[in-house]
Amino acid sequence: MTDPQRDIAAMRREYGAQQLLESEAGFDPIALFSRWFAQAADVNPGPWFEPNIMTLATIDADGAPDARIVLMKDFSPAGLTFFTNYDSRKGAQLAADNRAAVVFHWVMLERQVRMRGRTERLDRAASEAYFQRRPRGSQLGALASAQSQPITSRDELEQLLGELEARHADHPVPTPPNWGGYRLLPEEVEFWQGRANRLHDRLQYIIQPNGSWQRRRLAP
Ligand SMILES: Cc1cc2nc3c(=O)[nH]c(=O)nc-3n(C[C@H](O)[C@H](O)[C@H](O)COP(=O)(O)O)c2cc1C
Repeated sequence: MTDPQRDIAAMRREYGAQQLLESEAGFDPIALFSRWFAQAADVNPGPWFEPNIMTLATIDADGAPDARIVLMKDFSPAGLTFFTNYDSRKGAQLAADNRAAVVFHWVMLERQVRMRGRTERLDRAASEAYFQRRPRGSQLGALASAQSQPITSRDELEQLLGELEARHADHPVPTPPNWGGYRLLPEEVEFWQGRANRLHDRLQYIIQPNGSWQRRRLAP
């Protein structure tokens, strides 16, 4: 590599602006997630930044992993929600095996959060309530897109969008029956804080049969 800007092996960043200690972390991972999420949202480095971006990993019919980014739209002790097309690749995978993992990376805070658990579909009313809050363009886009299916061209999509705009011109866009939310119910949550010399802090929480959380520190 002659261009040092592109020498990937030499790309490295030192971490260590903050630390994650047991004394501050507490025993409730959702409460800690809530604090970290608020801090990520507060940093607000620019309009391009979306603190609710998460990578969602699922398992296909052969047991092979798959992953893509989705947007978290809510969280509470009951779990994390996201919305998608139920007939998409991820939708089919979750219908066959509801186990999933998500990963957040808040680069400016040198933080990662990982969660693993099972997913369930939101009830219809909750999915429709969220769909009706979306901008009209996004609603029509969701209606036009048979997500993850092969299409012949970009034109086909644009033409369908035009037809749907005309068909729904004078009334609210109906929520597509194959579109809706999922809730991930975390069973394992890990918080990673970058530290000097790659001696990062990792605290992992595992849910117990009685619903309480067990916490342990992992080697970086
Ligand atoms: C920043 C970003 C946000 C995204 N948010 C969503 C989302 O909330 N829901 C969704 O279905 N796809 C979202 N996508 C698109 C997915 O990554 C993916 O392309 C799509 O859901 C199809 O995935 P699948 O074929 O595995 O089902 C997003 C992509 C990016 C890059």
